[in-house]
Amino acid sequence: MGYVGDNKSLEVLLGGLKRLEYRGYDSAGVAVIDADGHLGVRKRSGKLKVLTDDLAADPLGNGATGIGHTRWATHGGPTDANAHPHLGDNGKLALIHNGIIENFYDLKRELLAEGETFTSETDTEVAAILVGREFQKTHDVTESLRRVVARLHGAFTLLVMHEDQPGVVVGARRNSPLVIGLGDGENFLGSDVAAFVEFTQRAVAIGQDQIVTIRPDSVEVTDFIGNPVETEEFEIAWDVSAADKGGWSSFMAKEISEEPEAVANTLRGRAVNGTVHLPELESIGAAVLADIDRIIIIACGTAAYAGMLGKYAIEQWSRIPVEVELSHEFRYRNPIINSRTLVVSISQSGETMDTLMAVKYATANDARVLSICNTQGATIARESHAVVYTHAGPEVAVASTKAFVAQIAALYLLGLHLATVRGTLSAGEIAENVAELVAIPDKIAEVIESAKVIPQLAHWMTDTQSVLFLGRHVGFPVALEGALKLKELAYIHAEGFAAGELKHGPIALIEPGQIVFVVVPSPRGTGSLHPKVVSNIQEIRARGARVIAIAEKGDAAVLPFADEVIPIPLAATLFEPFLAVVPLHVFGMELAAAKGLDVDQPRNLAKSVTVE
Ligand code: F6R
Repeated sequence: MGYVGDNKSLEVLLGGLKRLEYRGYDSAGVAVIDADGHLGVRKRSGKLKVLTDDLAADPLGNGATGIGHTRWATHGGPTDANAHPHLGDNGKLALIHNGIIENFYDLKRELLAEGETFTSETDTEVAAILVGREFQKTHDVTESLRRVVARLHGAFTLLVMHEDQPGVVVGARRNSPLVIGLGDGENFLGSDVAAFVEFTQRAVAIGQDQIVTIRPDSVEVTDFIGNPVETEEFEIAWDVSAADKGGWSSFMAKEISEEPEAVANTLRGRAVNGTVHLPELESIGAAVLADIDRIIIIACGTAAYAGMLGKYAIEQWSRIPVEVELSHEFRYRNPIINSRTLVVSISQSGETMDTLMAVKYATANDARVLSICNTQGATIARESHAVVYTHAGPEVAVASTKAFVAQIAALYLLGLHLATVRGTLSAGEIAENVAELVAIPDKIAEVIESAKVIPQLAHWMTDTQSVLFLGRHVGFPVALEGALKLKELAYIHAEGFAAGELKHGPIALIEPGQIVFVVVPSPRGTGSLHPKVVSNIQEIRARGARVIAIAEKGDAAVLPFADEVIPIPLAATLFEPFLAVVPLHVFGMELAAAKGLDVDQPRNLAKSVTVE
C-alpha cells in the first residue's frame, strides 16, 4: 500500500498492512520519508507482527509519505534481504512490487555488466535499480517509472517513492491489482480497498497498463505512454468493521458464522416471488444467452468445487452442456471455444492470476464471459462481459468459506435464469427451486448450531495422519472441499473421492482406524443414490474404517454403520451441498486450532494468488 497525507504515514501503513496481510505473510516492510526528508526503510522476514514489534522497539521517523508491503515469496526465500521495499538511487528510492517480472534475469545480467550490485535474489530489485537510474536523469518518479515499465514483461503492480520528491507516491499496474483510496488532504493506494477502508469509502480502480501519481491533494492517472485516462469512482460497499475480527477467535470462525448471511445477501433482490432476476446478464444479451450451446466454468481451488456444483444444477435445469475446468489447465491447452460458448469464471478475489489469464484468453477467442466475483471493481470483473457479484462481504481468512456458499448460490441463480429464458423448466418448477434456495440461509444457521460436536471430534483427531472424504453426485465436490480444507489448514494428508470410485482403487487405502467422512445423500432423493452410499459405508466399515457420516436428520439407515453422525436439515438433492459443507468447514478450522496452527494464515499460502 502507499500513502501521502499528513505526518502519520507509519501508523496508516501498519494498519493497512494488517488488513492486507491475508494476501501474503512471508515477510513485511515499510519505507517512509520522515519529517527531515530522509528515507527510512525497515523490513523483516516473518509475519507483520515481527516488523511491528521491531518498529516498536526501534521506531522509524514518521512522515507524510510512505509505502508498505507484505510478501508471498516467488523469487528468493522469505528472508529480510528479499523482503520489500527494495532500494535504488543509492538508497534514496524505495519500491515495492506484487507480481512477477518475467524478464528480470536478462535485465539483471545487463545491470550487473554495467556495474550495479544487488542485495537480494528477487526479481523486484531489478525494477528498483532501473527506476533509480532513470530518476538520476529525470528527477521525476512518474516519468522514471513510465520509462521502466516499458521494459518489463510479466505481471506487476509497482509503487515507488523517492526522498527528493516527498509527498508523492507513484504506482503502475499490469495484470496485478491496484486501487486508489480518495481521502481529504490525503490519498492512498492499495492492492485492495481493505488497505484504506478505515479512512475512506471512496475508491477508484486503476485499469490495465496505467500509472497513477498520488499527492495529498491530487490524483493523476495516465496510460503507460502518458496520456490522461478517465477513471470512475466507486463507493466501498462495506465498512471497516466488516474487515475486523469482532470478538471471534479467528476470521475463519467469523466467516463461517456469516455463511447464512452470505447466501441471503447473494439472493437478495434476485430470487423474488418464485422467479429469478439477474439484470447483470443484460450486457450479454438475451438473444446471445438463448443461443449459447455450451458453458465452460473456469476457477481454481474451492471456487472450482463451487463450479462443479454449478454444473450439476445448470445442466439439470437448463439442459445446456457444462464443463468445469481449472483455469490454468484451460488457458494453455488450446480449448475449443467460439461465440456460442459462455465461459463462467468464478473468483472470490477477482484477482486470481490463473483465472484472469483464462478470462482474457476466452474473450480474445470470441467467447462471452460472465464472472461470479466477490470483490467490487476487481480485475476479473472488469475484463468480463458481465459480472454477478456475490455479496458475501470481505473474506479475510485464507481458506474460503462464506464465499464458497455464496458462489453456489450465484451459480444456482444462473442455472434458474437460463432455465427461464430457454423454457426448460415450468414457472412452477422455477418457483419450487427458488423456494429451496431462499430457505437455505436458515438451514445453514441450523447446521452451524448443531455442529457443536465437531470441536470435540477435532480434539480427538490431533494425531491423525490421514483423513478421507467420500461423496457421490453433488456430495463429491463437497468431499473434495472437505479434503482441501484439511490439507491447507491442518496440514494433514486428505483426499476426496467420488464414492463410486472407491472400489476402483482407493479402497486399498482403508485400514483399521482410517477416518472417513461420508457425505450421505438424502434417502428421499432420486436415483437410488442413498442406498449406494450406504453400501459404500458398509464396504469401508468392513475393512476397519471409522466413519463420520454427514446425513439428513432422521436418516435411520446410516446409524448402525457410522461411528458418528452429523445431522443436516432436509433439502432437495441439489441443495444439500450448502448444508453438508458447513460441518467440513468447521472441522478443518477446529482441527487446525486443536493442533495450535494459525487458522487464518496457513503456511505457504496467500489469499489472493496474483501470480501464475
Ligand atoms: C481454499 C481457497 C482457494 C481459493 C482459490 C481461488 O480454501 O480459498 O482454493 O478458492 O485460490 O481463489 P479465488 O476465488 O479468489 O479466485
